[in-house]
Amino acid sequence: MGLSRRGLLAAGLAALALPGCGDGEQTQADADRKVEVFSWWAGPGEKEGLEALVADFSRNNPGVEFGNAAVAGGAGTVAKSVLATRLQNDDPPDSYQAHAGLELAADIKAGYVEDVRDLYQEQGWLDKLPTGLVQAITVDGAIYCVPVNIHRSNLMWYNPKILAGMDLTPPASWADFLTQADVIAGKGLTPLSIGPAWTQKHLLENVLLGQLGAQTYAELWTGGTDWESAAVLAALRLYGDVLARSDLAAPAGDWQPALDKVVAGTAAYNVMGDWADAYLRTKGLTFTEGYGVVASPGTDRVYNFLSDSFTLPRGAPHPGAARKWLVECGSVGGQDAFNPQKGSVPARTDTDRSKYTGYLAAAVAEWADDGTRVVGSLTHGVVADTTWSAAIDTALAAYVQDKDAAKFARAVAVSRT
Ligand code: GAL
Repeated sequence: MGLSRRGLLAAGLAALALPGCGDGEQTQADADRKVEVFSWWAGPGEKEGLEALVADFSRNNPGVEFGNAAVAGGAGTVAKSVLATRLQNDDPPDSYQAHAGLELAADIKAGYVEDVRDLYQEQGWLDKLPTGLVQAITVDGAIYCVPVNIHRSNLMWYNPKILAGMDLTPPASWADFLTQADVIAGKGLTPLSIGPAWTQKHLLENVLLGQLGAQTYAELWTGGTDWESAAVLAALRLYGDVLARSDLAAPAGDWQPALDKVVAGTAAYNVMGDWADAYLRTKGLTFTEGYGVVASPGTDRVYNFLSDSFTLPRGAPHPGAARKWLVECGSVGGQDAFNPQKGSVPARTDTDRSKYTGYLAAAVAEWADDGTRVVGSLTHGVVADTTWSAAIDTALAAYVQDKDAAKFARAVAVSRT
């Protein structure tokens, strides 16, 4: 591993300041004293999870100072551009958050991240993670990240009191939703709250999943499903109809304020991942009484998964401490401290299930159930690399305005990487 320009400079200055000290010794001591971790977990419902993980890390590594480089903004939309600049400028943090799957492909190709397979061998992780997850993070025999959790994207959140007041139960299909939407709108409520562009993409993937089914959805990303087929075009038009029942004209600034509308009772439903469970609990609400959740319409028994993971950037200023952070992320103790706060289930299969209550007790059971069908999230990095995903963002921004399904499908198909 080469030293970055900054690393070389730091090593040079250290040698000047401490002439009696061997360079190697000083570099190693530095590497063990501090770790700068970059994520987007700065908002309510996310920072609590990070704090719990950091607390466990600090207990296990009392001599290591934790530097929190979190940049706020749901789904990392802001953080990702800040990180890209740092990586381009040869100024990496010691570890950064990335989704398991194709999201990391460009960074791997650019040489920004180290293979940490030796840690997997040292810690015995390969037997402790689901095979499908290991496959999703293995590239040419190397592994460039350590998963800390499994989140579920395809969930529909609601306020039970508001639904009961309208004599409604959550819709089992998007057609049911459209029927309900007339009733809900007739009472002066927004049928579905929505937020910024990434939440619109998050809704899109789950409408496609609900309409097309798991197999056809999965093959959208592998080339087996024709984006311009009649079935996909119909699902895209339906997505347009669903969006027309949302508050797209005045969208929330991020995912938390979109959920706030459901809590306040001005909107009936919100489609969001299970980080919403953590957020709603921070508001003092309890599962089933204060908030309810079902699989998004048409996706019962399907887990549209994503996994938050952490990396070892090439040229990390403190690689020794960064490895300690990764060990924490991959540990039973770390995952069982983090996930109950984060609204996710552990990536490891050998953790303590009794720590997961409320919504998470059901999620742990469903994730472990052999009958559950697993597919990967587009918005959260599993099934498309950053180039294709960015092209889909551009096409989607146009689609939500012009509602031209054929044009959107074509744009997505031709931009496939
Ligand atoms: C996802 C991330 C989750 C959660 C969410 C909202 O991309 O994987 O952990 O933070 O964004 O910000």
